[in-house]
Amino acid sequence: MTDDIRKGLAGVVVDETAVSKVDPETNSLLYRGYPVQELAATQPFEAVAHLLWHGELPGDDELAALREEERRHRALAPEVKAVVDLLPATAHPMDEIRTAVSAVGAHELSDGGSVLDAGGSAEENLARGLRLFAALPAVVAYGQRRRRGLDAVPPRDDLGYAANFLWMAFGEEADPVVVDAFNRSLILYAEHSFNASTFAARVVTSTLSDLYSAVTAAIGALKGPLHGGANEAVLHVFREIGAAENVGPWLDEALASKRKVMGFGHRVYTRGDSRVPTMRAALESLVAHYDRPDVLDLYTTLEDEFVRRKGISPNLDYPSGPAYDLIGFDTVTFTPIFVAARVTGWTAHILEQAASNALIRPLSAYVGPGERHVAGSVPDE
Ligand code: ACO
Repeated sequence: MTDDIRKGLAGVVVDETAVSKVDPETNSLLYRGYPVQELAATQPFEAVAHLLWHGELPGDDELAALREEERRHRALAPEVKAVVDLLPATAHPMDEIRTAVSAVGAHELSDGGSVLDAGGSAEENLARGLRLFAALPAVVAYGQRRRRGLDAVPPRDDLGYAANFLWMAFGEEADPVVVDAFNRSLILYAEHSFNASTFAARVVTSTLSDLYSAVTAAIGALKGPLHGGANEAVLHVFREIGAAENVGPWLDEALASKRKVMGFGHRVYTRGDSRVPTMRAALESLVAHYDRPDVLDLYTTLEDEFVRRKGISPNLDYPSGPAYDLIGFDTVTFTPIFVAARVTGWTAHILEQAASNALIRPLSAYVGPGERHVAGSVPDE
């Protein structure tokens, strides 16, 4: 084993990015220079998508144009619905959304072009990114409805992105408190530098493959419970514990069996995830709205006890899991919501990678058998 191997690329700087800055020293996260908590408090998610793609917040006309285009592509395309309907209702919605993105890509790139043109121009990719951003809420919402034995709900042109997402999922207009909390969560989930899924998207882009292939790779990476799957996993932990008074004995057992407690810890942040206070405030607003103090009780008791015993702070998935649960989403739908939000960051990185590309191809230290030779040839049957 060579000394300079950095398992998991921990601490390795692999490229530059102008999309976001994660600073563990100051415990801050900036999107194109703006603190994420400021964006969450002041912007609709569509404006943050524009910021990530173009580097600046949109002016009034730009926001209006983006909204118009987003509304034009909101509806669940029949060809995408047909592909989703082929999947078993018991399929995990992350597999469903990954398949839906593949279907969108196969249709969008069906002009008979060769792989040499697959990457597309920056202009084409911006337009593709926007259409995917517009299309994914309907896929997530329909997936949940399908599992509940319900039909798809057509989008509403008079609602913003977050409000329409909730409308399509539940078929009723959400309270402004709920829309605001949901909008904040989408902004917090939108981008986070070279995390595993974004890096996967950049690796695929670096081969000059297409945006849809990069996004499906990213979805695959996000599914894992060490990454995006943790927001779903947090809810399983909450259900296992049941109530605040069970936290102590539950933690005794979890820590004795060296179990990882989902929703805690982060590779980059050592002093706590900068997004948590904003999402916790959003969770608190939902707890008040739904009158569920028991949720906050369990949340704070587990956090306090885990931090006291392990010194490891919660990450964004810790408050967002119970927040999505209160809103009424199925637990398996939490990570696909993360996909719908993070597709903005992924596509911003795909554009950035393509603009100054170098094939991503690290080296490995071989530790297998030394050179050896086959004993003889095996005849074909
Ligand atoms: N529960 C219990 N112990 C933990 C946790 C946790 N959640 N997180 C870290 N540790 C412990 C590890 O057991 C390890 O202890 P050891 O040195 O005694 O073996 C030590 O802290 C270091 O942990 P690693 O997993 O090696 O550190 P890494 O930087 O790879 O971990 C990770 C980061 C994967 C996020 C980890 O903290 C974890 O598994 N957390 C739970 C999953 C989770 O919440 N993921 C969401 C990430 S954020 C996001 O995607 C929005």
